This record gives sequence, C-alpha cells and structure tokens, in this order.
Amino acid sequence: MQCLVLEDHQSVSHYVAKQIRDQVTRKADSVLGLATGNTPEQVYALLVKWSAEDPALFSRVHTVNLDEYVGLAPEHENSYHHYMRAHFFSHVQISKERMHIPRGDSPSAEQECNRYEKTIQKLGGIDLQLLGIGSNGHIGFNEPGMALRMRTHVTDLDDRTLRDNVRLFKRQEDMPTKAITMGIGTIFQAKRIVLMATGKQKREALRKMMSGTVDPRCPASILQLHPNATVIVDRAAL
Ligand code: GLP
Repeated sequence: MQCLVLEDHQSVSHYVAKQIRDQVTRKADSVLGLATGNTPEQVYALLVKWSAEDPALFSRVHTVNLDEYVGLAPEHENSYHHYMRAHFFSHVQISKERMHIPRGDSPSAEQECNRYEKTIQKLGGIDLQLLGIGSNGHIGFNEPGMALRMRTHVTDLDDRTLRDNVRLFKRQEDMPTKAITMGIGTIFQAKRIVLMATGKQKREALRKMMSGTVDPRCPASILQLHPNATVIVDRAAL
C-alpha cells in the first residue's frame, strides 16, 4: 500500500480524478468501482467538467457502486442512486445499462446481494475501485468486526456510522439501519484501489488503517496487503 500526502482536499480530489481519467484513457471499457459520501464530491465535479470537454470519455465504462441503504428506492433523496445521479450520472454520457448500484428496495435484499455480486464477476471484476473511509475505519459499509472475506452482503450499520450519517436525513427515524455493501472480498479483488481521506475527522481511522497490522476492528487495514492500493490524504488527515 502506498501513501501520498497532498496539501488539501482540493489537491487530493484533483489527483484522484486524474487517476480515474487516466484509467479510462488507457482502457475505455474500464470497470470503475465508485463511492459516495462528502469526500469524493469534488472528484465527480472534475470528472463531469472533463467529460464536458470530451463527451465520449465515459461512454464505454461500466460503473459499480459500493453500497446502498436497505429500504430506500432509487428515487429517495437519501439513496446512493440519487447521490450518483446528482453528482455524476446525470452529467456524463454513460448508458443506464452500464451503471450498477445495488437496489435497496428489492423484495429480497439477500437475492439482490447475489445478483449484484454476479454482475461484478460477469464484468470481469473491478479495474479501479475508488474508496472513502468511515470515521470508524469502514470501507463501503464493511463495519468493524465483519469477516474480511465476505462478498456483497447485507450489513447492520454500526452505531458510529448511524451517528455520522444521520445528519443527511430529515428525521432520525428515516435513516435505515441496514445496507447492502460489496464485501471486503469483492473490494480486495479490484486490480487497483484508490482510497481518499481528508480532514482531521479521519485521522484516527487512518492511523489504525496504517498501523502495520490487519485488524478486523478497522476493516480498511486489510488494504495494507493489497498489491496495488494507494491512499491519498491531505495534511489535515495526518
Ligand atoms: C459512507 C459510505 C462510505 C464512505 C464513508 C465516508 O457511509 N458508505 O463509502 O466512504 O461513509 O463518508 P464521507 O466521505 O462523507 O466522510
């Protein structure tokens, strides 16, 4: 695992966006693993800007998102489907069939997990996986204490995750307590992983992640064993 320290959130976003653009330039039909959250918002803004200058840039990619809340339909304003449309999909040329996100409103979340995992495998796996990190060290919604080999599965959200993300919901009771997430096993198979983390609220999680030992209490620490993972942080996060 390599670590790169840049000045601030803006330089981290620019660097990460460029990694994604380079990946797509090298391989137009790349499978991009995408993340949500505040952290990658500027990355998507830059990608949207660059695709306005080169409209075919993303036309052949496939995208697979990390996760979705159980119970939220794609139209729900707090769903990750909604996030992706708002920040990326509505502004770039990618056909709908090439965008993949787990359906939170499936009648059977377990079946949806199997279907989603098969989709990723049928695409040949992920070429570049973008990740953020939760303040508790989660990646996707792989919460502390989860088995590190899991594939796409339903998970109970950790108390800390519920506290961190509740601000995005109008009422506390609207926030789902479960999510569908790619497992660590799925994420770890990505050919390349780029994790971005900025701001002092991520310091503790990063310290545990780079501690030198793999600890299921900090799921992101598994990335220390990945052959092609880069962590890009700003000074505030160190
Ligand atoms: C969310 C997502 C993660 C994301 C993380 C950090 O709950 N499931 O994929 O990386 O939490 O979010 P943020 O970037 O808003 O700090």
